[in-house]
Amino acid sequence: MDTGTGSPYGAAMVDAPAERTGPSLETQVRFWGEWNLAHHAFSDRSPLQLRQLRWVRRAADRLTASMDEDRPLRILDFGCGTGWLGASLTDLGEVTGIDLAPAAVEHAKQEFPRVRFVAGDVANAPLVGPFDLVISSEVIAHVADQAGYIRRVAELLRPGGVFLLMSQNGFVWRRWSQLKPTSEGMLRNWPRLGDLRSMLAASGFSDLRVRSLQPAGDRGILRVLNGRIIRGGCKRAGLERPWRAVLERMLMGRDLAIEARRR
Ligand SMILES: C[S@@+](CC[C@H](N)C(=O)[O-])C[C@H]1O[C@@H](n2cnc3c(N)ncnc32)[C@H](O)[C@@H]1O
Repeated sequence: MDTGTGSPYGAAMVDAPAERTGPSLETQVRFWGEWNLAHHAFSDRSPLQLRQLRWVRRAADRLTASMDEDRPLRILDFGCGTGWLGASLTDLGEVTGIDLAPAAVEHAKQEFPRVRFVAGDVANAPLVGPFDLVISSEVIAHVADQAGYIRRVAELLRPGGVFLLMSQNGFVWRRWSQLKPTSEGMLRNWPRLGDLRSMLAASGFSDLRVRSLQPAGDRGILRVLNGRIIRGGCKRAGLERPWRAVLERMLMGRDLAIEARRR
C-alpha cells in the first residue's frame, strides 16, 4: 500500500526495545551527520515536514498573538538537523538551532544564514536563554536522558514560554512496513504519550495540547484505516482532508505533537 508518506527512516530504525547501553557519542555524531545529509539536505519537503511546518507555524502565531509586548520572539530549534524547521520562523524573531552533528550544522549555516547554528549536545551545549519558543522535531527518542532533555528545555524557556515537541509515534511505527533493521549509531527509544505527559509535568509544563501528525502505517488497524477502502474511498470522494484530520486527532499520525506551556 502506498501511504504517501515516504520515510527517511527506512534503513535506519528498528522495531526493538532500546538498548540500555547505546552507541558512543562519537558514533552518534557520525551517524546523524550522514543521516541528515542523506535525508534532509534538500529543499523538497516530505509530507510529514510540510505538516510539521503548518502545525509549528500555527502554534508560533498563537504565541505571538498572546504576547503583551510587540517584539521579536527568541526561538530555539533543539536538535535542528539541517535547520529547515527553525528557519521557517525567522520572520517571527531570532532563531537559534543546535544539533549534535557538525556536518548537519555546517550544511544548515550555508543554507540558512539568518539562523544562528551551534553544534553540541542538547544536554550541555552553552545556550543562553530565556527563549520564548522551543521547537524540537524527532529528537527526544534519540537522546539517552529524555527527562533531562525536557528539564533542559524548561530551563531555557521563560515562564509562559511554549515548547513544541514532536516525537515518532511508536503505535504507528510498530505497524508500518517501512520500519527496517537499524544501522549502528542511532540511539532510539520512542517515548509513550503517558511518559511524555509525566516528564513534562515534572518539569513544570502545563496546558498541554496533544495531537498527531500525518497518518501512516499499514499493519493491523492501520491497514484498514489507511487502506484502499477507507482512505481510498475518502480520497475519491474529495474527503482526504477530513480523513487526515480525524486520524490525526485519534493519534494515528506518525508523529506525536505536543504543545506545552512553561508555568
Ligand atoms: C531524526 S533527526 C531530526 C532532525 C531535525 N529535527 C528534523 O526534524 O529534521 C534527530 C536529530 O537529533 C539530533 N540529536 C540526537 N541526539 C542529540 C543530542 N544529544 N544533542 C543534540 N542533537 C541531538 C541528531 O543529530 C539529529 O539531527
